[in-house]
Amino acid sequence: MGRSADAVGGTGGTVSAPAPLLLDDGAPAADAWTLDPTLGHLNHGSFGAVPRVAQAEQQRLRVLMEAAPVAWFPALPHVIADARQHAAAFLGTDSADTAFVPNASAGASVVYSSLPVGHGAEILVTDHGYGAVTMGAERLARRWGGTVRTVAVPLDADADASLAALTDGITDRTALIVVDQVTSPTARQFPVAALSRAAHERGVPVLVDAAHAPGLLADPLRDLEADFWVGNLHKFSCAPRGTGVLVARGPLVPELNPLIDSWGATDPFPERFDNQGTLDLTSWLAAPTSLAFVEDTWGWDTVRAYMSDLADYAVDVIADAFSAFTGEDHRVDVGMPVGALRLVRLPAPLSIGHGAGNDLRDRVLQDLGVECAFTAFDGIGYLRLSTHAYNTPADYEDFAERCVPVLWNWAQAS
Ligand SMILES: Cc1ncc(COP(=O)(O)O)c(C=O)c1O
Repeated sequence: MGRSADAVGGTGGTVSAPAPLLLDDGAPAADAWTLDPTLGHLNHGSFGAVPRVAQAEQQRLRVLMEAAPVAWFPALPHVIADARQHAAAFLGTDSADTAFVPNASAGASVVYSSLPVGHGAEILVTDHGYGAVTMGAERLARRWGGTVRTVAVPLDADADASLAALTDGITDRTALIVVDQVTSPTARQFPVAALSRAAHERGVPVLVDAAHAPGLLADPLRDLEADFWVGNLHKFSCAPRGTGVLVARGPLVPELNPLIDSWGATDPFPERFDNQGTLDLTSWLAAPTSLAFVEDTWGWDTVRAYMSDLADYAVDVIADAFSAFTGEDHRVDVGMPVGALRLVRLPAPLSIGHGAGNDLRDRVLQDLGVECAFTAFDGIGYLRLSTHAYNTPADYEDFAERCVPVLWNWAQAS
């Protein structure tokens, strides 16, 4: 079992700094990853980070693949089925409902390309959706000769208000609802279980974009009746990249086909997805190593609690650092907050406007050596913070002390 360091001090306002997580030998948790120690890493959420043991396992598997490709590929579907069971157990669901896909985008694409044609129908999305997934919904609507209806949900809407906004958006023409379990630009949750029930009462299928949920939420599929749920194991679960999961239930399941038609085509779901032709699928096979590493070292519940406590602290120190310049409150009231992803409001005009968040991300990395995410919603720019086991309070103190003054200068100069 890994452990925590003794309690640390803290420079924040009201929240005390959690003790950093340590490895069994007392080394910092970050030693289990290969992140560049000369950079700050405050954006686990966008692309994840893979522990050394899982990188090594993936490399071990690649060596086997390269040693005897003709032995490797025919045996692959059976080995994938085994890894699928691990992934399903981690997510608290049944492996018979669970297929591997390369990523959440691919899972959404599978759904979009497999649904029966809904001539002239409407697809309901929210204004918090992930742009690429929403664009896929728009393309599907064009193919159907239909439309996308975007429901606006206020950032601070709680579960009841969000549910009401979403269900009010359902019309007689709605043929699909696409909703995030954890949103990317706004770092909040939506009441996907209640929404799925309400949608099913109206006969409307639901696709839940849960890209961030695995590892971040303890039991993301509990009580969830959604027809389709797509999640990434390569974000908070730390699996090698290219490890997405599509969980599907209900009458539309037989319609689902992988993006790559291959020898599994005549198999039922999900076995059909275990056969993807000649592709390097070692990420899927090494994913259980990442899940087991975190569980065996600290336990996922401990890591989730740590990530959440650290995120509270991070918001505290960074929001206070901005307040010292602006005299304003930079904390953000999101209706259904989520453990390890948080927002801090930026001084205007930072991160507002098309592409501005990505430009700021690149500038902060280039000039200040910190990997961050900057988003915008309703004309306001945000720093979207992520935490993980390898982060420590010092990461966020450094950002508050070194980067916030520079951001304030950039805001004033804009
Ligand atoms: C909500 C959401 N959906 C989908 C994705 C896409 O994930 P991927 O690029 O792994 O397909 C992301 C990525 O950050 C996301 O945040």
